[in-house]
Amino acid sequence: MLRIGLLGCGRIGQVHAKAINGRSDATVVAVADAIPEAAAALAEQTGGRTAETDAIIADPAIDAVVIGTPTTTHYDLIHQTAKAGKAIFCEKPVDLSSARIRDCIDVVEQHQVPFFVAFNRRFDPNFATVERRIRGGDIGQVELITILSRDPSPPPIGYVKTSGGLFRDMMIHDFDMARFLLGEEPVRVFATGSVMVDPAIGDAGDVDTAAVILTTKSGAICQISNSRRATYGYDQRVEVHGSKGMLLADNMLENNVEFAGNAGFQTAPTMNFFLERYERAYALEMAHFVEAVTTGTPPSPGIEDGYRAQLIADAAAKSLAAGRPVEIG
Ligand SMILES: NC(=O)c1ccc[n+]([C@@H]2O[C@H](COP(=O)([O-])OP(=O)(O)OC[C@H]3O[C@@H](n4cnc5c(N)ncnc54)[C@H](O)[C@@H]3O)[C@@H](O)[C@H]2O)c1
Repeated sequence: MLRIGLLGCGRIGQVHAKAINGRSDATVVAVADAIPEAAAALAEQTGGRTAETDAIIADPAIDAVVIGTPTTTHYDLIHQTAKAGKAIFCEKPVDLSSARIRDCIDVVEQHQVPFFVAFNRRFDPNFATVERRIRGGDIGQVELITILSRDPSPPPIGYVKTSGGLFRDMMIHDFDMARFLLGEEPVRVFATGSVMVDPAIGDAGDVDTAAVILTTKSGAICQISNSRRATYGYDQRVEVHGSKGMLLADNMLENNVEFAGNAGFQTAPTMNFFLERYERAYALEMAHFVEAVTTGTPPSPGIEDGYRAQLIADAAAKSLAAGRPVEIG
């Protein structure tokens, strides 16, 4: 039985608590949150107790720590948890600075603790199948990838201001998906972005609409399209074109019923947002983490993957500012 301490009882902390609760080989021993009521509510749901963050990390009766706190707190919590010798499940992004992620890699390596970065989309059954079929050779050599990722509506402006910007906060998932599907490292990025959704996002120094082209050494190309708005719901699609065929993972809909009338065909709306759309992926990533730590195999994606995605995000931000392609890393 893997004994887990959970830090952060907000949106994502609740998702992870639910995933652990659904397992017989792991248990939530204790939860912590800066807001005591948030911790108390989740403790009641999980059957764990509430505790201070420091006490959870120091507790010898806890094997692994889930870091589901805001991104700016990850760095210190990773250092503290690694020094305590516990396995780490850390939310994305690891940090907003690649130099600071290198520090985290050092402390994780020094203390030899298992580290998992929660790029949950790799565990989505559709995207995982696309990757498996690429590696199985079904479409030959990968030539062109298209990743479309659009949120139904922008987050609160307060969130935007501390998010690190669209590339480091939102497109980081797509940069990881690009690496996952390409099977090789992108070497160059060209990014462009605009403020089309909310001028307040522009005032905060960010963009809400962006397109990026990644190129690998072999010449494979990946195009990513992000928007903080999609009037028809959460839009998450992937298409991979290769020398022998094409793989397409379409949106997940609320149901599979189609209506046809004199105005044509109509489907159900897309699943509302990430909590619903990736519910299965969240459960599967936790299953992977628990199994990896229990069997002593390194969890994947690991901290190096968090770092690689961050290097692409940094280069994309640079490319946007400079208005030209930028080499990665
Ligand atoms: N993988 C995904 O799909 C996904 C989705 C959403 C958020 N995230 C990531 O998860 C992290 C948290 O995001 P969220 O949306 O859940 O935020 P949130 O604000 O809903 O929750 C964070 C919680 O952490 C608490 N907290 C702050 N500092 C703390 C500390 N030192 N110790 C204990 N608790 C503390 C806050 O009080 C809050 O309740 C971010 O890094 C974000 O990027 C990932």
